[in-house]
Amino acid sequence: MAQRLYIVGNWKMQGTRAMLSEARAIDRAAERLIKAEVALAPPFTLIHATRKEAGLIGVGAQDCHAAEGGAHTGDISAPMLKDAGAGFVIVGHSERRADHGETDADVKAKAEAALAAGLAVIVCVGETEAQRDAGEAESVVAAQLDGSLPRAEGAADKVTVAYEPVWAIGTGRTPTVEDVGQMHRSIRARLTDIYGEAGAHVRILYGGSVKPDNAAELLAADEVGGALVGGASLTAESFLGIIVAAAELGEG
Ligand code: PGA
Repeated sequence: MAQRLYIVGNWKMQGTRAMLSEARAIDRAAERLIKAEVALAPPFTLIHATRKEAGLIGVGAQDCHAAEGGAHTGDISAPMLKDAGAGFVIVGHSERRADHGETDADVKAKAEAALAAGLAVIVCVGETEAQRDAGEAESVVAAQLDGSLPRAEGAADKVTVAYEPVWAIGTGRTPTVEDVGQMHRSIRARLTDIYGEAGAHVRILYGGSVKPDNAAELLAADEVGGALVGGASLTAESFLGIIVAAAELGEG
């Protein structure tokens, strides 16, 4: 595969300023590993500092509000993220969908707000274990794509999809490479239904228990354009193991 793989670290609700040294170490390595595209999504509180400390990697947020501003105590809008130095925002992560009851319509509104603010978006989708066991994984993900993807003019150029089976997040369990390939092909088909030809170029990341020792095989699966990494992105050492695997594949 000649195209660069996109490796995004999602720090979730973890990270104080002490962790900026990890971001700096990741950034320095990314300078050498130009065959992979690397980004970090730290908590809101670290976005500005990460952008200043790490000049090469992408920096983004893990969520945004759908409104531009107003009386929404505790929330952060897409223009505020842009002002803090973010280049992208993750929306629709399954932890947001579960913890905050976010629906596909909410996720779509957030994605559209992000695009309007000039940010790229990573839209997360993925089935639960019960849905997979019931044979519904592909239909659930297709419905999430239909409901969550932004439709604004040119949206396909700024959207990345992250397929994250809920049962694989933080569990150490992953789907087989065949299952990942099958789901990613199905997502690709949906993307071209929704966006037409532009949907052929949307990157589809795999996420859920990606580690240095399984990254190479998961990243080589059909239609996988990179990875969204939680736990293994928290230290430069483990995140770099994944970035190295991606850079090696990018050279192929
Ligand atoms: P994990 O999380 O790598 O810790 O499984 C992935 C994610 O939730 O984005």
